[in-house]
Amino acid sequence: MSDGSAERAGAEWFRAARFGLFVHFGLYSLAARHEWVRSREAMSDADYDRYLERFDPDLFDAAALARAAREAGMRYAVLTAKHHDGFCLFGSALTDYTSVRAAGRDLVAEFAEAMRAEGLRVGLYYSLLDWRHPDFTIDRYHPLRDSVPPEEAKGHDMARYRAYLHGQVRELLTGYGPVDLLFFDFTYPAKGPEEWGAAELMAMVRELSPGIVVNDRLGIPGDYVTPEQYQPDAPLTRDGAEVMWEACHTLNGSWGYDRDNHDYKSPDLLVRMLVQSVACGGNLLLNVGPTGRGALDPRAAETLRAIGAWTSLHARAVHGAGPSAYEPPPNALYTQRGDRLYLHLLAWPLKHVHLPGLAGRVRYAQFLHDGSEVRMRELDGGEHEHNNLAPPGREPGTLTLTLPVVRPDVLLPVVELVLHGEEP
Ligand code: GLC
Repeated sequence: MSDGSAERAGAEWFRAARFGLFVHFGLYSLAARHEWVRSREAMSDADYDRYLERFDPDLFDAAALARAAREAGMRYAVLTAKHHDGFCLFGSALTDYTSVRAAGRDLVAEFAEAMRAEGLRVGLYYSLLDWRHPDFTIDRYHPLRDSVPPEEAKGHDMARYRAYLHGQVRELLTGYGPVDLLFFDFTYPAKGPEEWGAAELMAMVRELSPGIVVNDRLGIPGDYVTPEQYQPDAPLTRDGAEVMWEACHTLNGSWGYDRDNHDYKSPDLLVRMLVQSVACGGNLLLNVGPTGRGALDPRAAETLRAIGAWTSLHARAVHGAGPSAYEPPPNALYTQRGDRLYLHLLAWPLKHVHLPGLAGRVRYAQFLHDGSEVRMRELDGGEHEHNNLAPPGREPGTLTLTLPVVRPDVLLPVVELVLHGEEP
């Protein structure tokens, strides 16, 4: 917890879950060139309305999305209930600018129901920015920054927008069953806690949903921090205390569907990112941007499937696992859950891997993907190396594993080490 009080009830599931799906879908998905398209191209309301007129998410299948997420090993999912363009994927009494009005679909309702049916926790993303609301003041990101006459701009009133923002969050937390997580987005120099009425909003959220997990982008401390398209390689701390965190990442650099962008991260890179997050006490929220019709594009679907092939065999090295106090050898990461220490081999060694400090501590070693025993012994220079040539760090106390020459055919090979005398 970042505000110093007792840890929120929701922190427990969030920490154990480790892996979630982010879903960016909205009118920008039809433009298919990044979710900031309206700002980047300074589109007028009328320009942008061409997507509203054509909005028809006939292939948005929340049940299929939920299944794909669960099969990828994800335990929660976060949908853009409203993005910066102000378009709402839910029925709101406060605006007509919604998917219900445009296409007769309450996608937040469909999403929440489908995720729960697959046993996933439900998260909603809500943009604090709103480029459609008549009271949201014009700033440098606003699509109308160069086109609104100054007289008209003066009439924008953030107090009225604030009431709308709070009202919509209330709608989301009261109309869709229990919401487990809220992802607000975002605070920047022109607008922050004061404009959002952040303290009051947070108090309302806590009152409506006491166990909910809330991120930190209201500009006041939340329950977790949100490094974006950045991969921490050590636990994150504030004033010396570890904080909960979740790295959010795109598949290809864009959150919204971006047809011509092929800069995809490979499944094996994504698995390493997931494991590195767990090894550093964090979560990974991996994004997909469904197409203009609402379907997962083939590349995203294939990526989720490939990750799932790994997580289905390696789930226990991820879910409920966290950092280890043991120091991993080079080119490896450790995750730990109770008496199980997981050695993730980022590069494949030739036959031997030396684990400092583990001699006498390991009861049994096996590959996690197939449960095959990995032989081990204590080697302190021994047979293959002259003692005086043993590299520094190969101290007595080192445990040596003997691996096959051929690397197992999984995205990231993992050896499960069963420790003596650790609390399960
Ligand atoms: C940034 C972007 C936004 C995206 C978000 C995801 O804040 O403005 O488009 O939804 O990151 O974390």
